[in-house]
Amino acid sequence: MTMHETASQAGKSDAPGDVGPNLSVSVLGAAGYVGGEVLRLLVSHPHVASLRAFSESHADQPWSAAHPTMLHLADRLFETPDIEQATASADVIFLALPHGESQNLMSRLLEQDPRLIVDLSADFRVQDAALYDTHYGRHLAPDLIPHFRYALADVERENLAGCRALASPGCFATAHLLALWPLASAGLLPETSVCFAATGSSGSGATPKSNTHHPTRAQDFHAYALAAHRHEAEIQDRLRCWTGSTAISSRLLTHSAPMVRGISATVHLVGGRPFPSPLAFYREAYAATPFVKVTADAPHVAHVCGTNYAHIHAVTRGDGREMIVTVAIDNMIKGAAGQAIQAMNLALRCDPTAGLRFPGIHP
Ligand SMILES: NC(=O)c1ccc[n+]([C@@H]2O[C@H](COP(=O)([O-])OP(=O)(O)OC[C@H]3O[C@@H](n4cnc5c(N)ncnc54)[C@H](OP(=O)(O)O)[C@@H]3O)[C@@H](O)[C@H]2O)c1
Repeated sequence: MTMHETASQAGKSDAPGDVGPNLSVSVLGAAGYVGGEVLRLLVSHPHVASLRAFSESHADQPWSAAHPTMLHLADRLFETPDIEQATASADVIFLALPHGESQNLMSRLLEQDPRLIVDLSADFRVQDAALYDTHYGRHLAPDLIPHFRYALADVERENLAGCRALASPGCFATAHLLALWPLASAGLLPETSVCFAATGSSGSGATPKSNTHHPTRAQDFHAYALAAHRHEAEIQDRLRCWTGSTAISSRLLTHSAPMVRGISATVHLVGGRPFPSPLAFYREAYAATPFVKVTADAPHVAHVCGTNYAHIHAVTRGDGREMIVTVAIDNMIKGAAGQAIQAMNLALRCDPTAGLRFPGIHP
């Protein structure tokens, strides 16, 4: 059996409506920023009955030792990471580990045959192993890549039903691809386009670094990774998959912004003929997903922070052959934990919005 076969094919029932309030979930890398968001969202998820958190650095300590907003969950403790323990009786395993760690332990994890694996790292996002190697160095388990489905939840939707292994997209890639997908699926993507994208400091994880230290970051704004950003691998991989062409590319120009959470991405495209009326086009493209909202004006990061929503806006200029699409997301929710949970809901055929309907905080 391959991981893309449905759970029912594997003898486990996952018929619609079969997911009651009884899921057991384990989270590896639970003391990190993304792992913490997975815990925060799953602790009140209507289908999750059991939630275990694994952390080397915080083993036997309460969750609040890493995530201070969880002080009220005083009886919840981190456990020492152990694949067999994490998978014992768990239906779903989330991996929120640094790049390179998931590929080290994935064959052992697959042997345990959990109902669903959701990997939040870059390890299994790029189906073209050579493209992966160009951006990240040699993959240690390329034979396992085909087990995974790229889980851009608002685009893949019901295609994720029954999947057993999901690769959750990167935060920049999520914003960039949400801007491009309607054009790609309508055959309107020009051969080249450019995305200017800015991120907050939480994108770099929980370990303090010189580029995330508040005094150096708070009043600064700068470009980085201009020669090649790693997320270009999964963007390129998706564009090839969506268009069937290796000629189509979209550059990602990343910037570091003085904020903690959020991504603002602006894509500039020039087509051979006028684009369709932009707002109506994007509204129709995303009508089937509750988590992408088309806004009347350019979206604000502050309006999506703390939510699983993407706000998107598009305009055309001049004779209509020039289009600008701009997207705002929370990098740790729509760009990581929230999207991964939405993908879990879809894979298990339960309500895709379960546990994710909360609004953000404002101001
Ligand atoms: N931050 C974002 O906005 C974002 C968005 C999308 C995707 N992601 C991806 O999500 C994953 C987690 O990111 P993050 O921002 O949560 O990172 P993080 O805050 O640094 O957390 C990573 C966790 O992994 C555990 N870990 C296991 N092996 C490790 C090792 N060899 N070195 C360091 N840590 C290790 C650590 O916990 P213990 O030592 O306690 O076990 C650590 O808490 C990454 O693959 C990242 O690319 C991040």
